[in-house]
Amino acid sequence: MGCCHGPGYRWWQWRSGFERVTENMKKYIVTGGAGFIGSALVRTLLQQADSEVEVIDNLLTGYEHNLEEVRDRVQLHRLDIRDGAALAPVIRGADTVFHLAAIPSVPRSIDNPVPSHEINIDGTFNVFRAAEQGGVRRVVYAASSSAYGDSETLPKVESMAPRPKSPYAVQKLVGEQYASVFHSCFGLETVALRFFNVYGPRQDPTSAYSGVLSLFMKHLLARTAPTIFGDGEQSRDFTYVEDVADLCVKASRAEGVAGKMYNAGNGGRFTLKFVWDVLQKMEGVEIAPHFGPPRSGDVRHSMADTRLAVAELGHSPRFTIEEGLTRTLAWYRTQTIKTQPA
Ligand code: UD1
Repeated sequence: MGCCHGPGYRWWQWRSGFERVTENMKKYIVTGGAGFIGSALVRTLLQQADSEVEVIDNLLTGYEHNLEEVRDRVQLHRLDIRDGAALAPVIRGADTVFHLAAIPSVPRSIDNPVPSHEINIDGTFNVFRAAEQGGVRRVVYAASSSAYGDSETLPKVESMAPRPKSPYAVQKLVGEQYASVFHSCFGLETVALRFFNVYGPRQDPTSAYSGVLSLFMKHLLARTAPTIFGDGEQSRDFTYVEDVADLCVKASRAEGVAGKMYNAGNGGRFTLKFVWDVLQKMEGVEIAPHFGPPRSGDVRHSMADTRLAVAELGHSPRFTIEEGLTRTLAWYRTQTIKTQPA
């Protein structure tokens, strides 16, 4: 067993093939780490030498194959965050918990609000509670730009009053308020990041509740028409997943930011029509979209003011929309079989 006795390891620190703990390593937990954003964050964390990464995921909307090529470096706990008792021993002693587990989607929270309420609010409480009780240094929480609702002013600044328009927006807002209160009442370091329409490789296009860009990719490659809800002039601050993962890591390290909330966006906005046009050009096709009625709970325009995150977290998004779409499309092209309609 000579391989097990390298510098820094002790025989009793080998608890299983996966659980290798050394004195200098930090344990990072990513809830929702098998999801598309969570798995990107896992990859980013693994690039750091001092990282031991553990994932908590119930595989409801995440997939083990999202972690494919890093699977042997990550311990996956198949747990539901509604189960606070099961969470506690996994979270105990972590340096940072990145809490990304959630049931996403505005329309899903309208069609079926109970599971998203339970996971996004009760589950989130359980994560903060387990972190606080378990001596965790900091929790970085994935909040949502949906909290702003339809405020007329753009870009959306952290100081604006929230105006949630859907159960999902309320749930994510409650989570960030819990983050703030766990800091003020219990001394847990928390940072909430309002994610703005994240897109990129591994976003699941197989559900009616999937993010719009994953659905656009699926239709583009299958040469079928996407449905645009409304006139297609609604706009989003589409943010590439690696930029969000980088910001999560920065938020876990920045000084003097505990208890605060920041926008995690790119600082631009693009209409659905524009993005569909760009994608058609990239693929060299012309496919007219179908148009349907606007979706209930939909926000009209969304764009982040990134100044606070730039100043206090060192946010520096690297990917323009063209670069992000190019990379994303390249990934979906490798997944042709999975994205073809049945
Ligand atoms: C919202 C949040 C986002 C959050 C996400 C989680 C806002 C501004 N953004 O995204 O921060 O991460 O929920 O789910 O609230 N659409 C179509 N055709 C489709 C699918 C969607 O036209 O097939 C339209 C929607 O009506 C919407 C836009 O595309 O106008 C974006 O929808 P979606 O990708 O679901 O995200 P949001 O609801 O904007």
